[in-house]
Amino acid sequence: MSFVSVCTTESLVSAAAILKSGGLVAFPTETVYGLGADASNPDAIARIYEAKGRPSDHPLIVHISSLDQMEQWASDIPEYAITLARDFWPGPMTLVVKRSYLAKDFVTGGQDTVGLRVPAHPIALALLQEFAKVGGKGIAAPSANRFGAVSPTTAEAVEEELGPYLKPEDLIINGGPSLVGVESTIIDCTGPAPMVLRLGAITPLMIEESIGLVALEKNPSDIRVSGSLASHYSPKARVILDAIAEPGDGLIAPDQIPTPDGVIRLAAPNSIEQYARVLYHALRSADQKGLEIVVVLQPGGDGLAAAIRDRLQRSAHQ
Ligand code: TXA
Ligand code: MG
Repeated sequence: MSFVSVCTTESLVSAAAILKSGGLVAFPTETVYGLGADASNPDAIARIYEAKGRPSDHPLIVHISSLDQMEQWASDIPEYAITLARDFWPGPMTLVVKRSYLAKDFVTGGQDTVGLRVPAHPIALALLQEFAKVGGKGIAAPSANRFGAVSPTTAEAVEEELGPYLKPEDLIINGGPSLVGVESTIIDCTGPAPMVLRLGAITPLMIEESIGLVALEKNPSDIRVSGSLASHYSPKARVILDAIAEPGDGLIAPDQIPTPDGVIRLAAPNSIEQYARVLYHALRSADQKGLEIVVVLQPGGDGLAAAIRDRLQRSAHQ
């Protein structure tokens, strides 16, 4: 696998060629890094599942470069989904819509819907545009981690996580740390009103303000979303929520919380946005330091704080 430290136009051209020939390209997005493959190539998609160790009936998000491309991948798009796309794309939001003939079973996990997202990262968008120039229609990309592990928010974390599972022709593109830090909000748009399947930076309140419809609560048994499994987003260290850290434990907590003697402070975010941005890196650093226990004090409030608590509860689940 090659590692592109500084992304140039030439590196994007070669990344698009790698995708076109069935290779894997890990790339930055504003949420987390994705492990990309040609969404129309079954062999390339099979390689994603292999590298991640992920069950093949779990659907992938197809990344596209514009609202126009949504119409190619989807059918029967409700008006409110178009409004959401106009308001929040490019951005940390995935829309689940009825699929068109383009979205084959190998990318949708056999479901008759497809997850679509226009990411708000200049490298991701430039890669999508280069890929379109060589005839690519979309890049399928799950978070670039092994199944059940913490999503990577830096290119170094991708290399550490997936390096051993990538081939010499594959590529990792460095685009610096992800700005949002938690995965996109997933919204099921197949019913009369939207249903939030995964919380993220686009909040239920923002959805309601955009379309004037209240977003429904999901029924977890409804649809396969691997991020909604009880145990997910887990480091090797045991995550304990809202407890008192003992000497030797790691601690992730808002900056106004002091670090007890002998405790290893892993992050001290000073806002909810910063909390989201540093969380996954801090969880990974616990493993790098060989810690057995990480105590995490959860942020209060709704919106992005609720998305953070959702991920923390899964990472603490045994
Ligand atoms: O922020 C993100 O969404 C990142 C970046 C790379 O875009 N991607 C990401 O992908 O988190 P992944 O595969 O790790 O999580 C996507 C979730 C999965 O749990 C999958 O089951 C769900 O989206 N999903 C994808 N297509 C779906 C569909 N048609 N119906 C229901 N859930 C779907
Ligand atoms: Mg994931």
